[in-house]
Amino acid sequence: ILALGRGMVAVYGALGDPGAKLFRKSSKKDPYPLYESVRAKGTLVPTRLGLLMTAEHSITGEVLRDPRWGILSPSDMAMIDETAYTADGRVLVNPLKTSFLMRNPPDHTRLRKYVGGWFTPRALRRQMPAIERVIEDFLDLAERKGTFDLVDDFAKRVPVQVIADLLGVPSSDHESFIRWGTALVNSIDGVRDTRELRLLQDTLREFDEFLGGLVEHRRREPGDDIVSELVKHDDLALDDLIATTELLLVAGFETTVNLIGTAANAVLGHPEVRAKLLADPAYADRVVEETLRWDPPVQYVARVPFEPVELAGRLLPVNQPVMLIVAAANRDPKVFADPHRFDPDREDVGKHLAFSSGIHYCLGANLARMEAAAAVRGLFRRFPGLRAAGPMSRRPSPTIRGALHFPVNVGVTK
Ligand code: HEM
Repeated sequence: ILALGRGMVAVYGALGDPGAKLFRKSSKKDPYPLYESVRAKGTLVPTRLGLLMTAEHSITGEVLRDPRWGILSPSDMAMIDETAYTADGRVLVNPLKTSFLMRNPPDHTRLRKYVGGWFTPRALRRQMPAIERVIEDFLDLAERKGTFDLVDDFAKRVPVQVIADLLGVPSSDHESFIRWGTALVNSIDGVRDTRELRLLQDTLREFDEFLGGLVEHRRREPGDDIVSELVKHDDLALDDLIATTELLLVAGFETTVNLIGTAANAVLGHPEVRAKLLADPAYADRVVEETLRWDPPVQYVARVPFEPVELAGRLLPVNQPVMLIVAAANRDPKVFADPHRFDPDREDVGKHLAFSSGIHYCLGANLARMEAAAAVRGLFRRFPGLRAAGPMSRRPSPTIRGALHFPVNVGVTK
């Protein structure tokens, strides 16, 4: 997605290739057998449309850290942008346009610097009380309901509230913020028809207008937030400012929602993990880290070489897209012992690539970890007997993996 940027649209186009089965229903439900078949076929696996895929940890890390590789530039993308189709006939649009996720140095370096300082562990520590408060508030609501949707009633609420606070969005706009964030993220896998496309375009316009208004407001009345800080930089163009703000919402929204949902589901499915978590709430940190490795919210990212490069013994031409399946790299048996097993006690977990690597390494990684661990900790502390009250439905995306809905019951409370 986000993770992917404009370059990813090309890859999506290429995924129309019958060789790339990611859009099939069975693969969406459980893509891991497909990833294993990619691994079994070799280091760089070509598809008929000329895309290369890799499931290897070493190759994924190498490409992400090599400055000769980057994001496919917007000018090279011009021919496919907005008209690319996925395998199931969806039109692809790219809401993140010109954000720094999709830019290469020197623009990427310059734009990322404006916001970097807000996401250091030290800066984020300030946010912790607010995060815990939001979590407790939503747990109160959940407790009153008894049976609730872990996604809609809980996981979705936390990240959007946190990022809205960081950006200085007034709480009266939080509901709209959730709506815009959801629409933007859903668009990543394309839209089905012109009606959906128009709806998305309207949503984007509304969101851009809102952000334009917020910028004006913060120019007049600065607060202690990211937008107020950004408007102080005369050298930052308004379009870049808005793209950065959109990126922070979209990149940190569904990804974190899915991390919380998948982690909670993993705890429910592993009684020994639940027991350890109940005995020691700090164990949530390990649960979250292992969830990132075992079933990451962003399943793959893409890169192209800026010059002819050799990779895994092959000479690749300029702009040859390579799909780096981080979810598969995270289960590479050469790096992770017993890779398919969910084991928060494993020692090798730190090598996972769920947040990518190199210059585009997730800016919000620390925040995501903090939020998700606090959510998992809070959830099981409040509801030690939490249980599934129905099946978890998955979001129908090969890119962003996680729960769409997950009915749960608070169980027997203490
Ligand atoms: C980039 C994953 C949460 C902000 C990325 C990338 C990945 C990723 C894989 C790199 C994409 C690439 O290399 O092409 C995740 C996951 C998250 C998460 C799995 C939650 C579990 C967040 C949060 C924020 C955030 C909470 C901030 C509010 C960003 C930004 C970038 C990024 C700004 C672009 C970095 C750059 O291009 O330099 N994320 N992310 N992410 N993420 Fe996250």
